[in-house]
Amino acid sequence: MPFSDPRTAAAQATLPTRHTLHAPAAVLDRFSDSELASLITLRRTLHANPELSTAEHATAGRLDAALRARGVTEIQRVAGTGVMARIPGRTHGAPVVALRGDIDALPIQEQTGLPFASQVAGVMHACGHDVHASWIVGAAMELLREPAAGDVLLILQPAEEIGAGARAIIDSGVLHGVAAIFGGHVDRRFLVGQVIAEPGPLAASADSFTITLTGRGAHGARPHEAADPIVAAAAVITAVQTIVSRRIDPSRPAVCTIGSIHAGVAANVIPDTATMTGTLRAMDPQTRALLTTELARIAREVAAAHGVEAVVTIERGTPPIVNPVREAAWAQQAATAMLGADAVVPFGITNMGGEDFAFYMERLPGCFLRFGARAPGEPPTAAHSSRFDVAEGAILVGAVVLAACARTASQSLATGRGVDDAEPSSGSSNRPML
Ligand code: NI
Repeated sequence: MPFSDPRTAAAQATLPTRHTLHAPAAVLDRFSDSELASLITLRRTLHANPELSTAEHATAGRLDAALRARGVTEIQRVAGTGVMARIPGRTHGAPVVALRGDIDALPIQEQTGLPFASQVAGVMHACGHDVHASWIVGAAMELLREPAAGDVLLILQPAEEIGAGARAIIDSGVLHGVAAIFGGHVDRRFLVGQVIAEPGPLAASADSFTITLTGRGAHGARPHEAADPIVAAAAVITAVQTIVSRRIDPSRPAVCTIGSIHAGVAANVIPDTATMTGTLRAMDPQTRALLTTELARIAREVAAAHGVEAVVTIERGTPPIVNPVREAAWAQQAATAMLGADAVVPFGITNMGGEDFAFYMERLPGCFLRFGARAPGEPPTAAHSSRFDVAEGAILVGAVVLAACARTASQSLATGRGVDDAEPSSGSSNRPML
């Protein structure tokens, strides 16, 4: 960390102490006062200097430097503005596990009034990715002190918010040979120290669509000479509400939202076209497929009833995240070991948000966790809000629990493969990435 950098000055204003961080003592006790201060300063520096998806150049530089300053030696850039590091394991040939934190910010004007608020107009860490990046650096500290059986790859991933970063990391090939992957997200609905690590659905698929309706324009006073795309659009909007209410099994969560509609330029002119965009969310592949086929069918046929042609294009986004039983059990075991059984709480929420960690889980076993990020008495401010902030104790909880996930998974996989834990790592083979 370049502590002399004036851009970090605000970040160091009124740093919390271990007594004001609201994190469990078992977590705080693993870090010295200066380590806590340096991780909080890192997070605040990232927060004050946010960068949008695929433009995380300074962020990557800061994270690279932060890892190096803490003794990590194997670091490389990946997927453009991503950073990847390898923490050596104890045992030669033991399974490699990856931990992922996302690093990008959102196009939002920050209104928190924090002393370390964004210094970039219109850009803000409003989803906690500054915290996710920082807890991966904290996990590096943990894994250097207490290594996993196998090597651990730390993935600081760009471009989560546009659903592109995970795919770019996968396409780079760096995950070849990785046996499992873990990641997490802050959640202001839960208190710092609470962790959700459970099997089953955790995030929805997020596909977007465009419906273009083409009719025939005419004078607004002579509608019988037109094929009115606005009236057709109104009918389509109403009709597609029946997909969720009449076509999808009520026990399967689903969303069909039309978020924009554009048509016409004048009060007395019927236009030729109308265009709508929207989003489709589902928790399982069958519902996801049904949403897209029904949307296309209903839009086409309802438009046809109005003499208007509908063209529906679907842009496939992230798949749903469904945590598998074995990996969720490892995450739960890791969180329980670090925080106690009471800290692992049920999610109890159907989260229709999307998360591009899902792309990793299409290819690798793994688990996505959620980490409580609210201090007692604070309101549960929603992510992607201009007033979003995170109780910083979450950084330490995320660091400690994710590092423990890597240790637990690596050890369990090594035991399953019969890898001899007594054999020291040679550091040469089973190293597909760096
Ligand atoms: Ni996020």
